[in-house]
Amino acid sequence: MGARIIGTGSAVPSTCLTNDDLAGRVDTNHKWIVTRTGIQERRVIRKDEALLDLIHAASETALKAAGLSAQDLDVILIATVSGEYAFPSTACLLQTRLGVDNIPAFDVAAACAGFVYGMSVAHSYLKSGEYNRILLVGADALSSMVNWGDRTTCVLFGDGAGAVVLENQSNDRGLLSTVVESSGALWQLLHVRSGLRQTFDQAGEQEPDWGIQMRGPELFKVAVRALSDVTKKALEKAGLAPEDIKLMVPHQANLRIIQAVADRLGASMDKVHCNVDRFGNTSAASIPIALDEAVRAGKVHADDIVVLNGCGGGLTWGASVARW
Ligand code: ACO
Repeated sequence: MGARIIGTGSAVPSTCLTNDDLAGRVDTNHKWIVTRTGIQERRVIRKDEALLDLIHAASETALKAAGLSAQDLDVILIATVSGEYAFPSTACLLQTRLGVDNIPAFDVAAACAGFVYGMSVAHSYLKSGEYNRILLVGADALSSMVNWGDRTTCVLFGDGAGAVVLENQSNDRGLLSTVVESSGALWQLLHVRSGLRQTFDQAGEQEPDWGIQMRGPELFKVAVRALSDVTKKALEKAGLAPEDIKLMVPHQANLRIIQAVADRLGASMDKVHCNVDRFGNTSAASIPIALDEAVRAGKVHADDIVVLNGCGGGLTWGASVARW
């Protein structure tokens, strides 16, 4: 029995912030941002927009691609750290939007690695046989947690949502392995206090430790090592090796991190789907948004070995391997 991804969908806000837009706000420039990160522009929500609308749109698209309706689902999972409410979970809010009841709906919090953590939960649920169809969404709006006066972080993040529908099927295709790991000892490399919300177009006084706090260069090194190691572990668990990878869809934090991980795995960049240039780091949304693009662009074929991997605040990291 295989737990297969049978539908994907994604949605991003309409407001686009270019590097030049940011250079008008803080002491930065297009050349620095592109050279150090690969990012050209990112999408951000405005104060009258809700992440839940993007989550809903991405979910409906994924369900449609799967040929299913929300009533067919057994579980709703959302990987996010930026839900509008501390409780209820964003998954419960989506559940009522979708008009389904009496199935489990809950959020998974692992920052930028959230989608892979969600895959781990979904994979275990499906493998157990207790559930057969799961909607897994990765969604974040970290732009609402960014200090828009801090050039070292405000250029990195964007908002969005991506969704997949997973189903148990009686063949040998589907998820082969998922490995997730955390290191709480490294929490200070990337963190944000809870209870804060301010969109990019809201003015206001800010506390000195307002918004995302990040030790970028240290994080960069841990991310490259952790992502390449965990991907090798997940491949090994699936009885595969890096040379078996047909497509890697990594968390889109920084083009240089992605290139360094691909290099350590011996994978050429034509096997890697990147969209960090257009969306920046959308946290838990980045893998499912990129996967949806790759699927719709016809880059994924039956029986291809597809690797999803990500690293984020916690620190958390993980990798999932699937035979498509
Ligand atoms: N524009 C212009 N200059 C800047 C900017 C900016 N936006 N930001 C920093 N600088 C300056 C710094 O002040 C520093 O100046 P100095 O040499 O005079 O002190 C110089 O540029 C170099 O700064 P570094 O931080 O050393 O630059 P680095 O090459 O490490 O790039 C970056 C910074 C892009 C943040 C990188 O460290 C990185 O990507 N780290 C990983 C961060 C990340 O991905 N976080 C997201 C979540 S975790 C994850 O997903 C892995």
